[in-house]
Amino acid sequence: MKRIKIKDILQTGEAGKTVVAKGWVRTKRGSKNVNFIALNDGSTIHNLQVVVDVDSFDDSLLRNINTGAALSVSGKLAESAGSGQKIEMVATEIELLGKADPDKYPIQPKRHTLEFLRENAHLRFRTNTFSAIFRVRHAMAFAVNKFFNDKGFTYLHTPIITASDAEGAGQMFRVSTLDPKSPPLNEDGEIDYSQDFFGKATNLTVSGQLEGELAAMALGEIYTFGPTFRAENSNTTRHLAEFWMIEPEMAFYDLKDNMDLAEEFLKSLIKYALDNCKDDLQFLAGRLQQEEKSKPQNQRSMDLIEKLEFVLNNDFIRITYTEAINILRNSKPFKKKKFQFPVEWGVDLQSEHERFLVEKHFDCPVILTDYPKDIKAFYMKQNGDGKTVGAMDVLFPQIGEIIGGSQREENLEKLETRMKEMDVPADEMDWYLDTRRFGSAEHSGFGLGFERFILFVTGMGNIRDVIAFPRTPKSADF
Ligand code: 4AD
Ligand code: MG
Repeated sequence: MKRIKIKDILQTGEAGKTVVAKGWVRTKRGSKNVNFIALNDGSTIHNLQVVVDVDSFDDSLLRNINTGAALSVSGKLAESAGSGQKIEMVATEIELLGKADPDKYPIQPKRHTLEFLRENAHLRFRTNTFSAIFRVRHAMAFAVNKFFNDKGFTYLHTPIITASDAEGAGQMFRVSTLDPKSPPLNEDGEIDYSQDFFGKATNLTVSGQLEGELAAMALGEIYTFGPTFRAENSNTTRHLAEFWMIEPEMAFYDLKDNMDLAEEFLKSLIKYALDNCKDDLQFLAGRLQQEEKSKPQNQRSMDLIEKLEFVLNNDFIRITYTEAINILRNSKPFKKKKFQFPVEWGVDLQSEHERFLVEKHFDCPVILTDYPKDIKAFYMKQNGDGKTVGAMDVLFPQIGEIIGGSQREENLEKLETRMKEMDVPADEMDWYLDTRRFGSAEHSGFGLGFERFILFVTGMGNIRDVIAFPRTPKSADF
């Protein structure tokens, strides 16, 4: 008989029908005469209750059915009275596919800390919390592609190995096949990368943007969605060394068009989650509520689903960096010296400032624009004031910066001047500058940090918990 997924059994199974289900045991409980096995196959947050008449099965078989074991069960579906589900299964045949030694299996039917589960990342998928997170993550990846496909964007696969540093921040992982013990040296005693695999120094990419711009200046509207790598030593709940980024790039878009797209994009993802991930979101909302109970009343956050609906149904606030600095300098925490980092025109905003604006002052997502040019990348559109650039950061509650983007400088001379000022090697970037030499035009784009967005949608607090196998400083297990 063909296996049926538990999600389908629970949704459309009919009492009286005999079916086969396969999955992993979440719990087994019962009495001398009857056992109840909660079986989960990952297709849904809900378990199939399997009712086992103890007398009809081998003792040793039943003894080996412990939490974590893999089973194939065939049985008759029946209306369920008590399990919270409409339908349950009365087992007629049970095959133990894989045992899980109860003394050794780390995932028990009790609450584990997220830290403990992080150390068991290969098994945390077996928990309700993580299976829900990864189903939601999948749904969001699908919704990203759907959004752009529906709009006629072309999905561009940009390289993971690159010789350029898009953000100019220099925090990159080197890719090399040279012998680390005795690399070839040039006359100056420096490593001679001309002898390396690619004949030059290469790194893992920090962004697909620069390559994306080339394609946008021909295909019109493109997006990338892939892994990016940053070797910054940031041990925070918002940073990964390997994370996924979505980077749309659009010809003939100015900064306003860019902001409009970003807002529409984020809302469409949230709507997709609310429409398609109800069970998982409800579970995650309940989880969050439990967690919030341990916090003082005034620090508790909104219910997860209410929060998602709130963002969906309200316009994002749009203000300039300069306006934001004024708000911050007039704020209570600034006057009472509660901010750890300085607030004055020219400094980069820290997470504490971003969160004050979003969570306390506006109580709404905020798009900040027109940042000082000295704290932003070389490629951003230079504003007429000579001080600011056409940048935009989207700030979200609990997260801070979720999107970074800008209109791009399309004027060759201005771009070259800025590159010189910022020590960006123009000779290595000739291919990029060609977009400004031949048929240059206004264009814009942004990058959404996928994991930061998943943090927001799932209500999780640590970015390590929304990626299957997190890579962070001093940690690359599994
Ligand atoms: O602001 P960033 O650095 O912008 C870029 O990379 C541009 N090239 C994007 C573009 O215009 N095409 O990064 C974009 C987003 C951030 O807003 C943040 O959400 C996320 O990427 N991000 C990280 N997420 C997790 N871990 C890290 N270390 C991250 N660094 C950035
Ligand atoms: Mg940024």
